[in-house]
Amino acid sequence: MAVSIKSAREIELMRESCRILSEVHARLGEEIRPGISTWDIDALGEKLIRSYGCEPNFLNYNGYPASICVSVNDEVVHGIPKKEHILQEGDIVSLDAGLIYKGYHSDAARTYPVGRVSEEARELIEVTRQSFFEGIKYAKAGNHLYDISNAIDAYVSKFGYGIVRDLVGHGIGTHLHEDPQIPNFKQWRRGIKLQPGMTLAIEPMINMGSCYVEWLDDDWTVVTEDGSLSAHYENTVLITEGEPEILTLPDGVKG
Ligand code: MF3
Ligand code: CO
Repeated sequence: MAVSIKSAREIELMRESCRILSEVHARLGEEIRPGISTWDIDALGEKLIRSYGCEPNFLNYNGYPASICVSVNDEVVHGIPKKEHILQEGDIVSLDAGLIYKGYHSDAARTYPVGRVSEEARELIEVTRQSFFEGIKYAKAGNHLYDISNAIDAYVSKFGYGIVRDLVGHGIGTHLHEDPQIPNFKQWRRGIKLQPGMTLAIEPMINMGSCYVEWLDDDWTVVTEDGSLSAHYENTVLITEGEPEILTLPDGVKG
C-alpha cells in the first residue's frame, strides 16, 4: 500500500483527533497511583474518549478486548486490563491509547512510574521518551524514513538497553495501521523519502535487558523474554517541510 499524503483538510482532522487524544492521556496520567486497577484505567479511558464523541480504535481491533493497552513492568505492549491487576508502588506502567475522530485515527503511548520507583526504572522511562525526540530530529521532508530508526538506535544503544525488534511504528490516518512500518533499530537501507503530509506513529519500545520478547497465551500481551522492565513512548507526528509537528503533544499539554 502506498504511503498516504494527507490533504490540508485531512491534516485538520488528524490534528483534532490527536489533540483530543492528548487530553485523554493527560487525564489518565493524573490517575496513575498505587491501588488503581488496570481495569479502572481502561474504563476511564473509554469513557473519556466517548465523552468527546470519539470511538476507541483499539477496542475489538483484531479482537483486542479493551480500549487502552495497559502494560506493567515486564509487559512491553498490548497488556490486557484486569480488575484484579492492581498497580503497586514501584511498578512502571505503559498506557497506549488511540481514538477515531470523524474517521481519522490517533495513537500515542506514555510510560509512568507508580509512586516511587528505582533510579534504574526512572532512567529507562526517560531514555525511552528521549529516544523518540532523538528520532524525530530527522523527521522532515527530504530525509529518509530510516534516518529516524537509526537515530533512535544510536541513542538507546549508548545505555545498553534492548530495542524491541518484533514491533514497529507505522503510518496512520483513515486506518490505525498504514504503511510505512517504522523500525526503532538500525537499518542498512535508507527507506522511503519523507514528504510533507505524511502522518506517522513513532513508538520506541525499550527493554532494560534483552531485546527479545514473547507473547503470552492470551495472544496479546507481549513480555520481555528475560523478565526485565520495558517502557514505551509514542506520538503521532506530521511531516512538514520544516520541523515535524507532534500532533499528540499540542502546545500546553504535557506528555
Ligand atoms: N500503538 C499500538 C500499535 O500501534 C496500538 C495497537 S493495540 C491494539 O500497535 F490493541 F489495537 F492492537
Ligand atoms: Co501505534
